[in-house]
Amino acid sequence: MSRVVVVVGASSGIGRATARAFAERGDRLVLAARAAQTLAEVRAECADAEVLTVPTDVTEPGALDALARAATDRFGRVDVWVHTAAVMAYGRFDELPERVFDEVVRTDLLAVATSARVALRHFRATGSGTLILTGSVLGHITAPYMSAYVASKWGLQGLVRTVQQELRDSPRIRLCLVNPGSVDTPVYQQAANYLGRIGRPPPPVSGPQRVARAIVDCVDRPRREVSVGRLNYVMRVGFTALPGVYDVLVGPLMRLAGLSGRAVDAHDGTVFAPNPASEALRGGHLPDLRQLARSVPGPVGAALRRRLG
Ligand SMILES: NC(=O)c1ccc[n+]([C@@H]2O[C@H](COP(=O)([O-])OP(=O)(O)OC[C@H]3O[C@@H](n4cnc5c(N)ncnc54)[C@H](OP(=O)(O)O)[C@@H]3O)[C@@H](O)[C@H]2O)c1
Repeated sequence: MSRVVVVVGASSGIGRATARAFAERGDRLVLAARAAQTLAEVRAECADAEVLTVPTDVTEPGALDALARAATDRFGRVDVWVHTAAVMAYGRFDELPERVFDEVVRTDLLAVATSARVALRHFRATGSGTLILTGSVLGHITAPYMSAYVASKWGLQGLVRTVQQELRDSPRIRLCLVNPGSVDTPVYQQAANYLGRIGRPPPPVSGPQRVARAIVDCVDRPRREVSVGRLNYVMRVGFTALPGVYDVLVGPLMRLAGLSGRAVDAHDGTVFAPNPASEALRGGHLPDLRQLARSVPGPVGAALRRRLG
């Protein structure tokens, strides 16, 4: 059955992959992010699906209510609401400008809460629906130089757990939290940077399609929390069971694997405004296996392309 799916943060990375994945299943889509021109590109990528694009800044008061209204005006209802919109900032806590810290928390925690409230009110009124939010392994562990993002993801973890407890009286309303580890998306280059070195996803890195598959799967098999990333549990165990060792190692590991050697002047990235030129499905941190598969001839190439989707 064709569902109506809202994807907030659909212009890049995981949200873009999620929009494509729902489109391939024949669902009807409402796609939101700030950059109207990139949303138009994503609509073209979802050509077989019926798509409404609604340029939306999630930090603007009333914007998420307006998004829900636009969705119901067009399609009559919403069955699934996915929120992937987020921004990041690198810098020591005491050197990161307060306005940047606050805007990251506003986008990654407060706006996600608003998004969840809007979706849940709609689902309560209609009696059913699935809300899927994206947290991070950084909602369970910590890493230096990412204080605003980590604080937001820990806050989101607590919010989701609390709301899941409140929803026990409404079994037809589902709330799932998808927690990725490192994913190959543009978010690292788009981040504000007050550290002087460009960030990158520490290995092992997953493709955004893998997270998108986990998100789509939550609609058929709702779960409270889904982790995507081979080392997520190992890192969580280290953080919890061996906090002293973890704290000694995490700084050097972050500098080695989580930051590139490339210098960068201080900038606000996409924290306050979008950068459509850098929005894409991937961030260029992994070889594009689909692209490679296209160059493999014969049945092996066809099998590879099928496997990679
Ligand atoms: N990539 C990773 O390694 C990773 C790891 C763990 C968790 N995650 C989580 O996965 C989710 C998706 O991240 P991603 O890596 O796919 O990021 P991304 O490629 O940078 O995409 C972020 C999306 O959020 C939108 N957005 C940002 N600020 C917005 C605002 N104020 N209003 C509306 N839309 C806004 C962006 O569009 P506009 O700029 O056009 O608005 C874009 O569509 C996030 O919750 C992130 O924390 C990512």
